[in-house]
Amino acid sequence: MNKYVVAISGASGVIIGIKLIKELIKNSEVHIIISKEGLSIIKSEVGLDWRNDKNRRIKKYFNCDNLVCYDNDDFYAPVASGSFLTSGMFVVPCSVKTLSAISNGYGQSLIERAADVTIKEGRKLLLSPREMPFSAIHLENMLKLARLGVVIAPAVPAFYHNPQSLDDIIFFMCGKMLDSFGIQNNLFKRWMEGSQNQR
Ligand SMILES: Cc1cc2nc3c(=O)[nH]c(=O)nc-3n(C[C@H](O)[C@H](O)[C@H](O)COP(=O)(O)O)c2cc1C
Repeated sequence: MNKYVVAISGASGVIIGIKLIKELIKNSEVHIIISKEGLSIIKSEVGLDWRNDKNRRIKKYFNCDNLVCYDNDDFYAPVASGSFLTSGMFVVPCSVKTLSAISNGYGQSLIERAADVTIKEGRKLLLSPREMPFSAIHLENMLKLARLGVVIAPAVPAFYHNPQSLDDIIFFMCGKMLDSFGIQNNLFKRWMEGSQNQR
């Protein structure tokens, strides 16, 4: 079974990280890290209070044995070491603070350390930075990481699949993120799918 690390940092759009975990745990082992601010935004945007007794509540919510949760200051966690083999890591959403730490190799939290490990081990890393608008500082941090092969995937919606609901948009974003790791999914209608290729 593939192992993935999924981190949720303190930015808007935490529902996308939650949906990504739901998809990944169907066929993979998922190692979850949520920052303190991420937990508080999950409470305010999704209404789930995981701030106390986090491990039990998260396990209960996802109702799955394929997941492990870590505290964001637990540097003894397996994912803090390159010797723990994974197939890659997602940071969804990624605050611009965590983006900055990762692009500068500054591992002050477990999320930042695990991302640093993922890069140094040459594994796949996807960040979904969330800010509006982006400053030149944010863009430079993204460019630096993109040049190292990190996938920069901000939650930018598309309209060619005719989304009818917020779920359609969230599913599209998760589907594209999984696509970039080569993970099979049917979360959204692909361009020209079912259209007999007629123009
Ligand atoms: C309600 C709320 C929403 C926030 N939204 C964003 C956001 O969309 N993008 C961002 O970069 N920071 C956002 N922040 C600020 C970050 O949470 C803050 O910079 C924090 O230090 C990030 O730490 P972390 O990356 O370790 O979670 C938000 C904070 C709050 C309280």
